[in-house]
Parts: sequence; structure tokens; C-alpha cells
Amino acid sequence: MIGQADKPQPPAAATPGERGRAGPWLIVAGVVVAFGSLWLLLSGLGALGGRAADTQKASDPATWGQRLYAHYCGACHGADGQGRAGVYPPLAQSEWVVGPVARLNRIMLQGPTGPYNVNGVRFSNDTMPAFGQQLDDERIAAILTYTRSSWGHRASAISAQQVAATRLATRGRAAPWTAMELMALPVDDDAPHQPK
Ligand code: HEC
Repeated sequence: MIGQADKPQPPAAATPGERGRAGPWLIVAGVVVAFGSLWLLLSGLGALGGRAADTQKASDPATWGQRLYAHYCGACHGADGQGRAGVYPPLAQSEWVVGPVARLNRIMLQGPTGPYNVNGVRFSNDTMPAFGQQLDDERIAAILTYTRSSWGHRASAISAQQVAATRLATRGRAAPWTAMELMALPVDDDAPHQPK
């Protein structure tokens, strides 16, 4: 009779027949509100989920480093650190990753520009972005510490203070680093407190 029997019945608004004319409006309003809040809820949860990988600090620093690595580096260097043959260099067994902190920090802050030799293989495709603007010292330290202790690596952790020291030493520089420039650095110039 009221013409609403074939419409999906939203749980809360279905009070048919109380006042003949208000019925359809209640149904429509109910459906709009129900779908609207469901959409808001889902998009809110989605945004939170997306942001969590980035900003939410895990209680365990290694877990946090791994999450940040997956988010910012994994697409090119691979979850297994193997890179992609001929395109993206490996981080696993890379002399750059386990080498001097002052060089590694610069690769992160201003980015590299090829060619780079990794394990005797040459890479030069200049796609790696600089992360200095995008990531703070703590995040960079967490990512680098993760790479230095993964895939069989046993290199020292990198602290946020060490990243801050490199940031200070390189302030004003925007250009990415060539491997030659990094090799010419005195390795302890801005990271004097490297743990052994
Ligand atoms: C868009 C692809 C891309 C992303 C994302 C990326 N890199 Fe790179 N990375 C490269 C390329 C390509 C090189 C080689 C240098 C060149 O050709 O410019 C490189 C070089 C390096 C090197 C020195 C060479 C080596 O293999 O050890 C390190 C260390 C490094 N990247 C670490 C990272 C870390 C850590 C992240 C995440 C914060 C990251 N990269 C994100 C593409 C990428």
C-alpha cells in the first residue's frame, strides 16, 4: 500500500504507517543517513590505516623501521632488499648500507645520483627521491637502522642525533650526491658519535 515494501529496509528508520505521508521521507532520510555514516566511517578508517604505516610509532623500533622501509623504499629496493636487476640496486649486501653513516645519511637526505656501484654492479637511473624534506631524523634513523640489521647485516644502529648532525653539515645543499663525492668525504666528519 505505502509502496515501500520492495525498498531495502534500513534498520532504524523503518517505522511504517505511523503517519501515512511521513513514511517515505523517513525511509529516504534513513537510507541517506545510514549510507552516509557508513561511508564516513569507512573512509575515516581507511585514512587512519594509510597513515598508520607512516606516522604511528611502534613500541618496538625494529618493527617501526621495517614498516617505514616497506612504505618508502620497498617498491624499488624490494622487501627482501634485492632491488631489481639492472634497474634498482640491492640494499642487501650493499657496501653503502653497512658503510660509513655520513655517506648513508647523505644518500637519504639529498638522494643519490648515479652511477653507483653496488657489489660490483653499476646502477644509474636517477629515480631515487631525496627524503630529507619528507622524513624527520627519527624516521630516517629507524629506516637505516633496519637496513643495517636486516638480510644478514650486522652494522651499528644509526641514531636520530647522527642524522641531525648530517642534516646540519649539509644544510643549504639540495643537489643529490654522486658516489664519487661520497667516497671523497672524511667518513666521520658529521657523525662523531658513531657507536662501535
Ligand atoms: C623510486 C625508486 C627508489 C626508491 C623509492 C628508493 N630508492 Fe634507493 N636507490 C634507487 C636507485 C635507482 C639508486 C641508485 C642510484 C641512482 O641510479 O640514482 C638507489 C640507491 C640507493 C642506495 C645506494 C646504493 C645501494 O644499493 O646501496 C641506498 C643506500 C638506497 N638507495 C637506500 C634507499 C632507502 C633506505 C630508501 C627508502 C627510504 C630508498 N632507497 C628509496 C631507487 C630508489
